[in-house]
This record gives sequence, structure tokens and C-alpha cells, in this order.
Amino acid sequence: MKRYHVTTFGCQMNAHDSERIKGMLEELGLGEAPSQEQADVLVLNTCTIREKPDTRFAAHMGNAAKLKRERPGTVVAVGGCYAEAQRERLFALYPAVDVAFGPGTISHLGEWLGAGGEGIARGSFGTGEERAFAAKLPLHRERRFQAWVQVSMGCNSVCSYCIVPAVRGREISRRPGEVVGEVGRLAAEGVREVTLLGQNVNSYGRDVGSSFAELLRAVDEVDGIERIRFTSPHPKDFRRDVIAAMAECPAVCEHAHLPLQSGSSRVLKAMRRTYSRDRYLRLVDELRSAIPDLALTTDIIVGFPGETEEDFRETLEAVEDVRFDGAFTFVYSPRAGTEAAAMREQVADDVKRDRIERLVEVVQRVAAEQNTSRLGMIEQVLVEGPSRTEPDLLRGRTRRNTTVNFSGDAVPGDLVDVEIAHATSTTLRGTRLAAAAA
Ligand code: SAH
Ligand code: SF4
Ligand code: F3S
Repeated sequence: MKRYHVTTFGCQMNAHDSERIKGMLEELGLGEAPSQEQADVLVLNTCTIREKPDTRFAAHMGNAAKLKRERPGTVVAVGGCYAEAQRERLFALYPAVDVAFGPGTISHLGEWLGAGGEGIARGSFGTGEERAFAAKLPLHRERRFQAWVQVSMGCNSVCSYCIVPAVRGREISRRPGEVVGEVGRLAAEGVREVTLLGQNVNSYGRDVGSSFAELLRAVDEVDGIERIRFTSPHPKDFRRDVIAAMAECPAVCEHAHLPLQSGSSRVLKAMRRTYSRDRYLRLVDELRSAIPDLALTTDIIVGFPGETEEDFRETLEAVEDVRFDGAFTFVYSPRAGTEAAAMREQVADDVKRDRIERLVEVVQRVAAEQNTSRLGMIEQVLVEGPSRTEPDLLRGRTRRNTTVNFSGDAVPGDLVDVEIAHATSTTLRGTRLAAAAA
């Protein structure tokens, strides 16, 4: 039997696409290899959101080329957003690539590889009009009790720094019946937590006569689904009906990942985010008054073209004002073909480095304070496995999406009550209480 290995870069959407890629390769009769070295078919599912994933991909291709020299039959297939962005040049840049495919054309990978991974021809295939939801493909899930569910593909926003619309295309929603049907099948297989995925989940449904609020309510009705998460919502489309659905649906978790990007209204405008700092802060107030105990996390970019020290201070202030429970922080990275990459006034690298360090410090301090406020509380934890750092402890996540390491017995997939005794900026620690929460 031939064996495959998939390496995934980038976001949860890409991780979910990789589950479909694996499922499809298994249906073709391939087995999973534990490492790239032992695989006959090497798949790299790429990301190109910033320069760093491009560089990591280049290093992986170096290794792939070496493996091909050692074992000439090895097939190298490259998919995802970098492959899409570089489709004209990919084979010239990386001669070791046999097959290239975009994020919307995963299903064609199977046709190309043929049964058992035999009969490989060198080439790439389509994007654009040929895009299709990978949801029709078989799925290889990492966890029995958690699943990602794609609700839409593509993005209609025009954030001036972002490459995603260029590589994932215009937004298309899946029909609500299909989404709910998939959630029902997952629940029947033992899934308790679903994460609904889209580049902008809040604009879901306009093209199929539905809305994200309706979708949340329908998924909440599915028996056996005890936790619903979603990522990412765009602040501009976060309307009252969604806030109400979050507040009223028992399974929807008390967590919103709400990308701020910048605390300066001037920079937000140049980013084409279409909300101001004040509008973002009002949304936070509305969310918090409707959903007590809501956790808020965010994405922030520093060093956007033209960002002044004053703009950057407004970002620091916004982090203090909102009191985020966590934040992914990024140094602005120019992406070829985007509006912002062509802007003059690019910020110098040393200034960017200085700002990211100062931002991370504030983010970590605020997050640690937020987590410290949980001390003594009892949190419901969905158990995921052993702790990554302390082998004697178990690990899981709260409804607010904080990682908890805890002592006591439980098996992955259990919902347990944990009393919190210790906090850092990213994790909580505690002890399982005797009675189960569920
Ligand atoms: N569609 C999602 C995720 C976009 S990518 C959303 O809009 O929320 C995830 C994050 O990467 C973005 O929120 C942004 O903070 C960051 N990002 C995107 N493009 C970037 C760039 N060119 N440089 C630095 N960070 C970037
Ligand atoms: Fe990129 Fe903006 Fe779309 Fe998010 S909403 S994927 S940041 S263009
Ligand atoms: Fe995701 Fe990276 Fe593409 S963040 S959408 S895999 S560019």
C-alpha cells in the first residue's frame, strides 16, 4: 500500500481542508505515513498570509526535493493559498513539485493522483469557476468529539493588507440544510463541539436566503451538540440578531474572536475595515451586556503602512480598554498584489519589532489579569488529552476557550467541572471536582 503525509500551514480553514485531503487520499487506498520521510505521496497544504509561512514552505520544499532524489518515485503535491497565489510560477520556483492545486479545487487532487496514487502526471488544475466545497469529500478527523464545519468559502471584504480574497475568491455560502445536515451526522458520530468556519462568518447566508443568526439557532437545535464555536466574525457584520442568538442558544460558547487589527480609526480606515475604534468599542459593550462572562480574543497588526507612534499607542490603549482575554499579534507583512503593499510610508523593520514587543507585553499582562480573575471559579472543561507541559495533568478547554491543565481522572471527550487555582497569560490550572458537569 502506498502512503501519504500531509503537512499543514496556516489557519483552521486550511487544517480542515487537510482533513478532507486525508479523507480523499484514504478513499483512494493510501494509508497515512507517520513522517514525510516514509511517504510516497507528500502533500504540503500551504498558507501565504504573511511572509513567514512562505519561508517555512520553502524550507519544506528543500526537504521534499532531497527525499525525491533519494526515492525517485515520491510524488510532491502542493495545495492551499500559496500554491494558488503562485500558480503561474510554482513549477519554475520549485521543480520538485509534481501536482499543484488551489484551496477550492481539493476534489480534483484525487482525479489527478488516480487510484492508489498511481499514474501521476505533472501539472496543476483550476481555481476560479471550478471552486467547490470540499464538504462532499470524505473526512479524516483528528478527534472523535470535536469537529470543524465549513459554512462558507472565500471573502468579499477588501481589507487592504490581506491576500485571502485573491486566493480564496468571492464568498459563497453553503446551504443551511447542508451545514445542519453535516452537524447532525457529526453529532451521531459522537461529536460534542463544532467550530463553524468562514473567513467572515457574520456575512454568512446572504446568497442563500439565510443568515448567521438563523444558522446558529439551527445548529443549536441539533441533539448532542453541547458546544458551538465560530471563527472569524468581522466586526462590521456583527449584528444584533447574532448577539441575541449567542445569548439565547445554550450550546453557543461564551467566546468571540473579534479581530480588531488596529486601535486607530485612521489606520482602520486605511485598512478598509469599515468600522472605527468607537464602533468596535460599542460592539464590545453590546456583546458584554447581552452575554455575561463573554471571553473576547482578537487579532492585531502592528506596522501597517503609515502607522505612527500615536496610532500605535491607540492600539495599546484599546487592548487596555477592552481587556482582551487573548490576542494573536502580527507584524504587518506586505503581500504582493494587495493595496497596502503598494502604499508608500512602509514602516521600518526596527520600528515594527519595537512595536510588536511592546504590544505583546501589554497583551500578556492584560490576559494574565483576565485569567487571574477566574481563580476560585468552577469551569466546565471539555477534556482533550494529556497536558502538553505537565505529563501528570490532563488538558482541556473551558467554554470561554481557555486551556486548562488539571489533575483528576477523565477521558478525552468528557465534560468535567474543574476548580481553578492558578493562572498564567495563556492557561489555567486546577483540580477536577467529583461530579461531572454534563
Ligand atoms: N478572515 C479572518 C482571518 C484572516 S487571516 C478574519 O478576517 O478575521 C488572520 C489574521 O492575520 C488577520 O486577522 C490579520 O490580523 C492577520 N493578517 C492578515 N494579513 C496580514 C498581513 N499582510 N500582515 C500581517 N498580518 C496579517
Ligand atoms: Fe482578509 Fe479582511 Fe477577508 Fe479577513 S475579512 S479574510 S482580513 S480580507
Ligand atoms: Fe488561511 Fe493562510 Fe489561506 S491564513 S486562508 S491558509 S493564506
